[in-house]
Amino acid sequence: MNKTDNYIKIFDTTLRDGEQSPGASMSLSEKIQIAEIFDTMGIDIIEAGFPIASEGDFESVSEVSKVVKNVQVCGLARAGDKDVDRAGAAVKHAVNPRIHTFIATSPIHMKFKLQMDEVQVIDAIHRSVSRARNLVEDVQWSAEDATRTDRDFLFKCVETAISSGASTINIPDTVGYTTPEEYFEIIDSLINNVPSADKVTFSTHCHNDLGLAVANSLSGVRAGARQIECTMNGIGERAGNAALEELVMSMKVRKDILNYESKVDTTLFTRASRLVSSVTSFPVQYNKAIVGKNAFAHESGIHQDGMLKNNETYEIMTPESIGLSESTLVMGKHSGRHAFKEKAFELGYELADNQLNDAFYRFKDLADKKKEIFDDDIIAIIDDEFSTSLDHIKLISLKIEAGTFGPQTADLSVEIDNKEISSVSEGSGPVDAIFNAIKNLFPHNADLQLYQVHAVTQGTDAQAEVSVRLHEDGKTVVGRGADTDTLVASARAYIAALNRLIIKREKNNPN
Ligand code: KIV
Ligand code: ZN
Repeated sequence: MNKTDNYIKIFDTTLRDGEQSPGASMSLSEKIQIAEIFDTMGIDIIEAGFPIASEGDFESVSEVSKVVKNVQVCGLARAGDKDVDRAGAAVKHAVNPRIHTFIATSPIHMKFKLQMDEVQVIDAIHRSVSRARNLVEDVQWSAEDATRTDRDFLFKCVETAISSGASTINIPDTVGYTTPEEYFEIIDSLINNVPSADKVTFSTHCHNDLGLAVANSLSGVRAGARQIECTMNGIGERAGNAALEELVMSMKVRKDILNYESKVDTTLFTRASRLVSSVTSFPVQYNKAIVGKNAFAHESGIHQDGMLKNNETYEIMTPESIGLSESTLVMGKHSGRHAFKEKAFELGYELADNQLNDAFYRFKDLADKKKEIFDDDIIAIIDDEFSTSLDHIKLISLKIEAGTFGPQTADLSVEIDNKEISSVSEGSGPVDAIFNAIKNLFPHNADLQLYQVHAVTQGTDAQAEVSVRLHEDGKTVVGRGADTDTLVASARAYIAALNRLIIKREKNNPN
């Protein structure tokens, strides 16, 4: 498409800021799957990671750079030489590589975090941007905590970044503190006061601590920013980042007011949202705008009546526009592999062969046990398969003795790195017994922070979906498991969380 003055570049940071959400972690293959969908979707730039952070992050940025075809790939770097060089090395295979370097500019961050004064920060900006510019053509610079930065100092920092070679200037609302009016004014004042402002693209990066991230980003665009940073499902540090799907759909649905263009194919939103939710084990809240389960559901009689007469009475966009198609295939115990694959695709999942085999096997097993199979049952199975596809530890079998006469006992067998081992453990309750058995087989010090069960559908034969959150040495992970047997689902969820913890440990302790 021809890029007009109204063209907004969409910069997705799901793989970097999104992965910084407490509890979220993605393996390399998961990151590649997400990057590929963003590439097809028409995202302009993917921030694929923070290469200096770990070997794993470096590898992700480097591998994503190699596999994507159209999208630009970006690596994040602090203002140090080593950070910048590492980011440069990680993106070197990308079609159009970008280094994104940043330093904090607010008084509170400079004093307490960096222990640097203004002169030192200006010097660091010059040094890091020039160094990055020697490695790649396209350099982005960010003023961390820009919205709490002294305005004249911010002008100076931005001018320094531009004169040192940056072509994109990102203005993060790092702590989600600003408001639409204030953010408009900040971007507007930069465009009007920084001498070389006309040479660069200004970018928004808004966090959602006050629930204003999308509104603030759009306000920045109205003031003249032409790049928006965002994440799928709005995941990210603390309350998250501006949600990609909300931003793009706002521009699409309210083109009369927000007359901007992007080349994002919104029909891939459902698929991307489910993929991100599956690989991070972060559920999408039911009433989440655009991609929540209830976003197109109509319950009240008045609404249903209106919808039957004309969809536009209560729908401002169609489900099809976000890739949510009316389900056509009814699944049951006679459905075959091909139908299952089609159904998964309709629901937004593209399954690799091994995932398809395992998910289909589980579906058949479920169809034998349960009268009706709903879409949510299939989603739960596939989500579970996504979270078990990276496993060091696999559940083999579980037998429980429970009831009024204790002690409750779990007889559990797992496979750890291809070796089968078993334990019989007691506990105060069957779940406790299972978790004790897992601890015996795979000793660890992680704390259990959350154990949550919910029924995927109605009825006593419904699958249970269990979430487990573990915490170890500042690292949090979430695992999910589904089964018609709540105790099996519990074992699956705990094991899924441990598998994610193993990935996190490896990322932080590269050999
Ligand atoms: O929120 C923030 O300030 C960031 C920067 C690294 C861009 O994520
Ligand atoms: Zn951020």
